[in-house]
Amino acid sequence: MAARDPGRPRVFVSRRIPDEGLEPIFAACDATVWPDELPPPRDELLRAVAGCVGVLTLLTDRVDDEFLDAAGPGLRVVSNFAVGFDNIDVDACSRRGIPVGNTPGVLTDTTADLAFALMMAAARRLPEGDRYVRAGKWRTWGPMLLMGVDVHGATLGIVGFGRIGQALARRANGFGMTILYHDVARLPDEVSGPLGATHVEIDELLARSDFVSLHVNLTPETRHLINAETLRSMKRTAILVNTSRGPVVDQAALFEALRDGTIVAAGLDVTDPEPIAADDPLLTLDNCLVVPHIASASRATRGKMAEMAAANLLAGVRGERLPTPVNPEVYDRPTARLGGAGR
Ligand code: DGY
Repeated sequence: MAARDPGRPRVFVSRRIPDEGLEPIFAACDATVWPDELPPPRDELLRAVAGCVGVLTLLTDRVDDEFLDAAGPGLRVVSNFAVGFDNIDVDACSRRGIPVGNTPGVLTDTTADLAFALMMAAARRLPEGDRYVRAGKWRTWGPMLLMGVDVHGATLGIVGFGRIGQALARRANGFGMTILYHDVARLPDEVSGPLGATHVEIDELLARSDFVSLHVNLTPETRHLINAETLRSMKRTAILVNTSRGPVVDQAALFEALRDGTIVAAGLDVTDPEPIAADDPLLTLDNCLVVPHIASASRATRGKMAEMAAANLLAGVRGERLPTPVNPEVYDRPTARLGGAGR
């Protein structure tokens, strides 16, 4: 899909996004949109970004020195259609003075909704129940049938207490849950107090929580934060929920923990890798629920993300400050690719 006009700044959009984003981009740019459902293969991506002033990327696109070299010296902005940006080598962009944008805030509640839905679904064994009915196994009401665990009144441990973690806490309050959180930075009491959330060290959180929900960024420090050892430190009745990034969990260790009853169940929106391999042993387990990275996937929220990603892209193309830059330090440097006319 393309709106070719060589007089306008050239941009590449690496997948079709909702019209709220595409329309303003087409109105202002010589835009090419990758038309397929699957991401562009690496060589095609590198070819497509060559000579672009701006790129709108997805979490499936790796933006690194090779990508930036392929784009060339005219690239002024990388706008990521996601709040997370672990697919982007932000330092490499910053070294070149290229601002990177993301989409914070607009997907907070939608993502927290899904984290809560995963907790509920895993606790009450909804996918198992659905499979049971469809398989024609439902013959009578059973006093022992598909018994799960209660969410209301349970203890929820939230690892990473940013916007989404806090939004999950607000939901948990309605269920009368005890809320523990761990974050590298302890929040001021004015923030955590009204949420009824208590800061504890990670070991205490894992040991005390009935539900552990992950909301950290993927960094070298958080990779495999949940591993064989941390899984062993959780309650045998605990349920793990991950809506952050797949590699925060050591998936092989999670499989063993779920198979051996080290913890009781897991609900995953994210896996490592994505998509999860069709023969991944996790998919053989009834106590593991996996959905395909859809936490922000409500129609309204994806529209807002598109609008925001387009706003970052267009600001960068015009040489203006991005509304939501992840590397604002580029604006303090003389190398920032600002100002001047777009190509
Ligand atoms: C994000 O925004 O980082 C999510 O993972 C996708 O919406």
